[in-house]
Amino acid sequence: SRTVTRTPEGAVSVGGIDVTRLAEEFGTPAYFIDEDDFRARAQAWRTAFGEGADVFYAGKAFLSRAIVRWLHEEGLNLDVCSGGELSTALSAGMPAERIAFHGNNKSAAEIEKAVSVGVGHIVLDSFQEIVRVAHIAEQLGKRQRVLIRVTVGVEAHTHEFIATAHEDQKFGIALADGQAAEAVRRALKLDGLELVGIHSHIGSQIFDMAGFEVAARRVVSLLAEIRDEHGVELPEIDLGGGLGIAYTSDDDPREPHEIAKALGEIVTRECEAAGLRTPRISVEPGRAIVGPTAFTLYEVGTIKPLDGLRTYVSVDGGMSDNIRTALYDAEYSVSLVSRTSDADPMLVRVVGKHCESGDIVVRDAFLPSDLAPGDLIAVPATGAYCRSMASNYNHALRPPVVAVRDGEARVIVRRETEEDLLRLDVG
Ligand code: LLP
Repeated sequence: SRTVTRTPEGAVSVGGIDVTRLAEEFGTPAYFIDEDDFRARAQAWRTAFGEGADVFYAGKAFLSRAIVRWLHEEGLNLDVCSGGELSTALSAGMPAERIAFHGNNKSAAEIEKAVSVGVGHIVLDSFQEIVRVAHIAEQLGKRQRVLIRVTVGVEAHTHEFIATAHEDQKFGIALADGQAAEAVRRALKLDGLELVGIHSHIGSQIFDMAGFEVAARRVVSLLAEIRDEHGVELPEIDLGGGLGIAYTSDDDPREPHEIAKALGEIVTRECEAAGLRTPRISVEPGRAIVGPTAFTLYEVGTIKPLDGLRTYVSVDGGMSDNIRTALYDAEYSVSLVSRTSDADPMLVRVVGKHCESGDIVVRDAFLPSDLAPGDLIAVPATGAYCRSMASNYNHALRPPVVAVRDGEARVIVRRETEEDLLRLDVG
């Protein structure tokens, strides 16, 4: 991130604080998030899209009350996908009308809560949900603004489990076979709903804009069909999130202004060709905002060289604080951060302390061959989908999230304790 430097003694310093001090004060493993970097990235998205568009930060990437306040202050909106995320957002003062509520199987209680507090959008994901949300809204005497999520049939070039716009998957309603058009027909008839637009999310960790362009084109052609059939021009389209970040130096992410320009141009061009007014565009970046802004700090515990293969370096965390390597074969980098070293590099695999051989944090990396127990190593770009997907596997205690800024560090999510675990165990 932006404020990372080395102190004269060789330790890395982040946000003006030496990592060895951070480890002493907050323990390891721990996530450290650079608040200025987060705010700058949020602001870059906001500025790139300008007043005619909305940026919804995807809370699933990582959400806490401090994050909600930063987003609010930087003028972003928020995408939530559960009652838990909704409560966090509301409790930190995000105005309900700036929240969009997602999910493929929202419970009746979640829908009731969202409608009663007045969330800006509910994104409808199935035929049943169209009726369910309409019914709940009517019972509450409300008219809920909704989008319909469609699957546009794009194969995003990413891992199968995180690609979402091809048709054989659980999200959304297919554009194919007139399904989405039928969903629109039903939604327009229901008094409890105000259908304001169409939503598409094609997947995650995407670098190629082509998938978004195809999605935008197909969504606009649905808007034209709707205009032809019903005489209404829906005023909004949401093109989802999914922009990739650099986990290793091989990745080459697009900048928010490039993305805004590409999406703006394609939507405008397609709308002009179809004789439609250009709708308001929304996007939902999660990873691209928070991913690069945090790193995980671990302490090296044991070092096991396997002759002719590689050296296994065990740290004090693992798949409970970063499941992405095991789950998606995700790639990360790692550096020695508590000191500098001139020793030759050795090939390592950084593994956790869990009872499972797939418990890998960094599959292949080089660290100095004089690495020793007690050294601190950092894995960058762990801001997205690490703390938010953390587990208590092996009764691990989930690490804290510490915000650093201007030489000060403060805990925004505290470390779990054994008492926390035992409090849930009421048997
Ligand atoms: N909007 C919708 C409707 C989504 O489903 C998602 C992500 C986003 C926005 C944000 O996507 P982003 O910009 O963060 O890529 N756990 C996986 C990623 C799953 C993403 C699910 N939905 C991972 O660790 O890579």
